[in-house]
Formats: sequence, structure tokens, C-alpha cells
Amino acid sequence: MSRTSQSISALPSASPTYSATLRVLHWLTALCMFVVIPLAWYMTSMDRHDPSRGNWVNLHKSIGLTVLLLTLIRVVTRLAGSAPPLPQSIPAFEQTLAHIGHGLLYLILFAMPISGYINSYGGGHPVNWFWLFQVPAVVPQDKALGHLGSRIHGLLAYLTYVLIAGHVLAVVYHQLIQRVDILGRMTGRAGKR
Ligand code: HEM
Ligand code: HEM
Repeated sequence: MSRTSQSISALPSASPTYSATLRVLHWLTALCMFVVIPLAWYMTSMDRHDPSRGNWVNLHKSIGLTVLLLTLIRVVTRLAGSAPPLPQSIPAFEQTLAHIGHGLLYLILFAMPISGYINSYGGGHPVNWFWLFQVPAVVPQDKALGHLGSRIHGLLAYLTYVLIAGHVLAVVYHQLIQRVDILGRMTGRAGKR
């Protein structure tokens, strides 16, 4: 079989996989991100006086805070164990890029929810987490602080788009061009061969 006609499932195993806990946390977070962002676009495009806007905003905030919770658990789990080293077939330069990219992704997974939280609580708008309970305030109600949070949230949104696009493209590149089953490390498939 020619190298290019090899199916993905026939690719050489990249290396051991991430632990099941880290894999579940990764995909749950990715799912939340793919919901919370379009939700933000939708709610910010709505008429300010639309009576349903408040519910969409509360849903955005609830999912956003869930991302923060998942990321906290994930970082503790990640630090307590170890991540599988990248396969040696990936050049050192690309490995460095991957580490920087993943580091920045973790940064936005904290910075987006925290700046959103500061935006909301600074402006005196508490979050009712999935309509179950009110999330306590740990920052003072302060308009200037709220504006700062809003500005950071809006600016970091662009970095978020760039990082997610780059991340997904990098996976596609490794998978289809470099022919290393990097995806299997996050699905659990790589360790099964
Ligand atoms: C990973 C988590 C989050 C992501 C990726 C995210 C993303 C976004 C994006 C892309 C926008 C639109 C920005 C714009 O067009 O200016 C937005 C707006 C907004 N977000 Fe989030 N968000 C997250 C978490 C949160 C949280 C936890 C809160 C509050 C507790 C929050 C509160 C808001 C508010 C109030 C807006 C309206 C626009 C503003 O005043 O800046 N977000 N968010
Ligand atoms: C279709 C969407 C996605 C795919 C296919 C994907 C795939 C992957 C894969 C294969 C890895 C493992 C890389 C390695 O072997 O080292 C990974 C790691 C990672 N992904 Fe994603 N991902 C997606 C979406 C996201 C999103 C939306 C985020 C967050 C905004 C994210 C954050 C991360 C982070 C932080 C890591 C590093 C994990 C660690 O080393 O602790 N991913 N992703």
C-alpha cells in the first residue's frame, strides 16, 4: 500500500495516550468552547431589549464558568500525573510550537472565564449557574473594573479564535500530511495497538 493511500487507522501508533480522565476533560472542554462561542456571537447580536437576551447571556456565563471548573480539575490532574511525551518523529521545532500553543490554550481557558466573571460582577450582574444557584461574588461591584473585564474579554476572544483554529489545523496537519496519529493520543486509539 502506498504511504498516501494508508488509512488513518493504519497509521503507526504515535505514542501512549493521555489518561482517560484527561481525555474526557479535553473533549468536554472542547464541546463547551464550541457552544459558548457561537452563543456569545448570538447574544451580542441580539436587541438589548429582547426579553430572552438575559437567558442566553446567563447560559453563556454558566457554560463559561463550567469551562473554568473543568480547566481547574484538568490542570490539577495534569500536574499530579504526566502527559505522554510527543512522538520523536515530530521535529523539535514543532514540538516547541505545540507546547507554546497548548500553554496559550490553557491561558485562555482561565483568562476568558475570569475576565467574563469580572465583567459581570464588576457591572453588578451575578450569574445564576444553569438556573440552579447564584455564583458568589469575589470581586467588588465597580463599573471601571467591569469595563476592564469587558475589554480584556473582547480582546482575548480574538486570541481564542486564532489559537483554536491553529490547534485544529495542527492536528489535521500531523494526521494527514505528517501521517502521525496524534488524534489517537486524545481519543485513546493510539495506545490500543
Ligand atoms: C471559556 C469561556 C468563555 C468564552 C470563550 C467566552 C467568549 C465570549 C465571546 C467571544 C464574547 C463576544 C465578545 C465580543 O463580541 O465582544 C463574549 C461576550 C461576553 N461574555 Fe463571554 N466567554 C466565556 C466566558 C464568560 C463568562 C464565565 C462570563 C461571565 C461570568 C462571560 C460574560 C460575557 C459577557 C457579559 C459578554 C457580553 C459582551 C461584553 O460585555 O464583553 N463570558 N464572551
Ligand atoms: C475539533 C477540535 C479539537 C481537536 C481535534 C483536538 C485535538 C487535540 C489533540 C489530538 C491533542 C493532543 C496533542 C498531543 O498529542 O500532544 C489536543 C491537546 C490539547 N487540546 Fe485539543 N482539540 C480540539 C479542540 C480543542 C479546544 C476547543 C481546546 C481549548 C480551547 C483544546 C485544548 C487543548 C489543550 C490545552 C491541549 C493540550 C493538552 C495537554 O497537553 O495537557 N482543544 N487536542
